[in-house]
Amino acid sequence: MFQGGTMGLFDLRPKTKREDLFDRERELELLHRGIERGYPVIAVLGIRRVGKTSLLKVFLNEVNGIYVDMRGVYKRIDLEAKLTEALEFSLTRIKRLLEGVRGVEISGLSIRVKWRGRDSVSLMGLLTEINKKKERFIVVLDEVQSTRPPLSYELKNAIAYSYDNLENITFILAGSEVGLLRDFLGYEDPSSPLYGRGVYEVVVERFTPELSREFLVRGFREEGLEPPLSIIDEAIGYFDGVPGWLALFGRRYVDGVGDLVAIREMAVAIAMDELGKLGVREKMVLKAIASGARSWSQVRDYIVEKHGLALPKSTLSRLIEKLEKLGIVRDYDFLDQVYREAAIKLVVKTE
Ligand SMILES: Nc1ncnc2c1ncn2[C@@H]1O[C@H](COP(=O)(O)OP(=O)(O)O)[C@@H](O)[C@H]1O
Ligand SMILES: [Mg+2]
Repeated sequence: MFQGGTMGLFDLRPKTKREDLFDRERELELLHRGIERGYPVIAVLGIRRVGKTSLLKVFLNEVNGIYVDMRGVYKRIDLEAKLTEALEFSLTRIKRLLEGVRGVEISGLSIRVKWRGRDSVSLMGLLTEINKKKERFIVVLDEVQSTRPPLSYELKNAIAYSYDNLENITFILAGSEVGLLRDFLGYEDPSSPLYGRGVYEVVVERFTPELSREFLVRGFREEGLEPPLSIIDEAIGYFDGVPGWLALFGRRYVDGVGDLVAIREMAVAIAMDELGKLGVREKMVLKAIASGARSWSQVRDYIVEKHGLALPKSTLSRLIEKLEKLGIVRDYDFLDQVYREAAIKLVVKTE
């Protein structure tokens, strides 16, 4: 893979350039409007692989700000390292907003932030200084719902402080686990620092069948290919407008895997890998739903029948709620059919 190059629509990494981003005009427009109106917090919600990260990285080319991937950030020291990296990545654009800020040393294209010790600066201190420059500054925290206390609590406090005091800063919080992201924002939790504050939501939806077709046809054209329409139609039906799966399909087909069944299996394997990280009881619930259980009692009966386990009512409700918050199921159905197939194949080990 060549550095800095582009592999077009079927590049499996998040897109960073406008010309590689298919459609999403409306979402970009909504984001621009949100920051023009000065919203302090914007939430970008959508299922896995729908294109949230791509949208936000492209958006950041058009505004001043930084992008931080919060996955794997558990401690303050991890966050500080990530922030330094993010500031350095966007340095050419945001240099003038950082000049003269205490604790920040810029030399050429590199930056040093003194997060501790004498003359150090905190995240809040940094944002307070940047706010004084009277230009809008965006902080994107991607997959922020994956943070844990105490870091998550510190972050919420910083965001709430910024909300109340820093009129030129906008936080954009994105996440695939939509229910958990809403919990992070504390919409319904009076003890949350962000409770009661208005948040502008941008929901990234999957592509319609028409857009999916256009995406695939354009991607294949870039690669000089014109696959039979029958396989394109089948892929559209199966991958149901999820851009990440469509891109995977396109890439693998271009790589010479001509068989849709084989490509589907690759997608299912990726989903299985993710579901494999869940606990035994979550997996039982998923298998029940994948097998057609459409109600609480059908899920319970399935688990009794297959595993001889009678889960207490509250436990089962909590498991279902958790899977909903993770953005895997809703109303006893899978949000993404690839995950349904993955759940069918999951092996549940019970003692
Ligand atoms: N609008 C789009 N145009 C082109 N490729 C896209 C688009 N949206 C998503 N993709 C591709 O789909 C995959 C998943 O996208 P990503 O932005 O990582 O999604 P998310 O952050 O929602 O999980 C990546 O390979 C990305 O390149
Ligand atoms: Mg993402």
